[in-house]
Amino acid sequence: MMAKSILVTGGAGYIGSHTCVSLRNAGYEVVIVDNLCNSDASVIDRVEAITGKRPVFLQFDMCERDELRKVFQRHSFAAVIHLAGLKAVNESVSQPLKYYRNNIEASTMLLETMDEFGVRNLVFSSSANVYGVPDSLPVQEHFPRYATNPYGRTKLIIEDLLTDLHSADSRWRIALLRYFNPVGAHESGRIGENPSGEPGNLMPYISRVALGKLPYLHVYGGDYPTEDGTGVRDFIHVMDLAEGHVSALQWLEMSPGIAAFNLGSGEGHSVLEMIAAYEDVCGRKIPYRIVARRPGDIPASFADPSLAQRELGWKASRSLHCMCVDEWRWQTVHSAQNA
Ligand code: NAD
Ligand code: WQD
Repeated sequence: MMAKSILVTGGAGYIGSHTCVSLRNAGYEVVIVDNLCNSDASVIDRVEAITGKRPVFLQFDMCERDELRKVFQRHSFAAVIHLAGLKAVNESVSQPLKYYRNNIEASTMLLETMDEFGVRNLVFSSSANVYGVPDSLPVQEHFPRYATNPYGRTKLIIEDLLTDLHSADSRWRIALLRYFNPVGAHESGRIGENPSGEPGNLMPYISRVALGKLPYLHVYGGDYPTEDGTGVRDFIHVMDLAEGHVSALQWLEMSPGIAAFNLGSGEGHSVLEMIAAYEDVCGRKIPYRIVARRPGDIPASFADPSLAQRELGWKASRSLHCMCVDEWRWQTVHSAQNA
């Protein structure tokens, strides 16, 4: 039997590259479209080194309709996993148009092209950001959705657009995956997250401090109504998340319709717990200073992932310790290579 081919937009990025590895492990053929605006081409070599097979890679912007059409003319896709998008919350506040154009226009272009070529199976990267400030925890999929920043609004709009699309044409099968806080790296140490400039997210910042590239971590807020006063999040190993995409593809094959799924571990861990777990693994102190809360941050967020377990047969299995071990391996291998 011929292997099914999957188009992965944004497949050179952090979550996309790990997803490509999981897809290959599950026997799928992978075609990546990425404009490399937040990634680099060496990721393709690394995915090949891990999986033993080179994914097809096409570098262009998702807003280029002609290029997109050529890909669909050349390949027969069973489904699309759409991860391409910009994701920096702060940047979206200062440059909203960039986010609306890149995230929404690219998605519309993709959907029109998929429709034209009769490919109507889609897995979309949404975010826990769509829950705004949740009223209670754990967060369930039916909770109210609202945006607190333009980035989150692009995710809300695309979720609504996909719901409208499905209402108009029930041939579409769509999984909206709401990721919580992905961290860590592939166990090989070959791929992981490496943001350019000063990292905005917790795990990459801790890593830079552990490597001695930044002097200390700012802990944003020590007076939250949480056990130790610092923010609580649902950290999920990026390989668990990647495997969730394979489960979502299998669900699409069985289930007509559209549904949203929380992809989280179901556990909340505080910033101080994350620091302690990382220190255990790297064997170094992570100096930190507790400073004012970061504007826009919520005190705590963690998922109820039971719907994904029931419907997709997927459950996160890797511990906080494992997230830190794999992150530290990636950081030490990667920074040694770039020394
Ligand atoms: P990433 O920046 O590492 O990956 C996104 C990839 O998309 C990059 O390789 C980038 O070059 C590419 N890209 C962006 N715009 C493009 C365009 N117009 N045309 C072609 N390629 C384009 O980010 P990530 O963390 O891997 O996130 C992937 C998806 O998951 C995004 O949609 C993001 O919003 C969503 N998400 C991420 C997180 C997170 O914390 N990392 C959480 C929830 C949701
Ligand atoms: C986690 C905790 C911070 C950095 C963001 C997006 C969200 C999603 C994931 C895309 C918070 C604290 C952080 C630091 C700190 N992305 N922190 N010092 O804010 O939960 O979510 O990324 O969809 O949409 O909003 O993740 O890693 O930035 O923060 O104390 O230097 O760590 O205050 O409590 P966040 P994060």
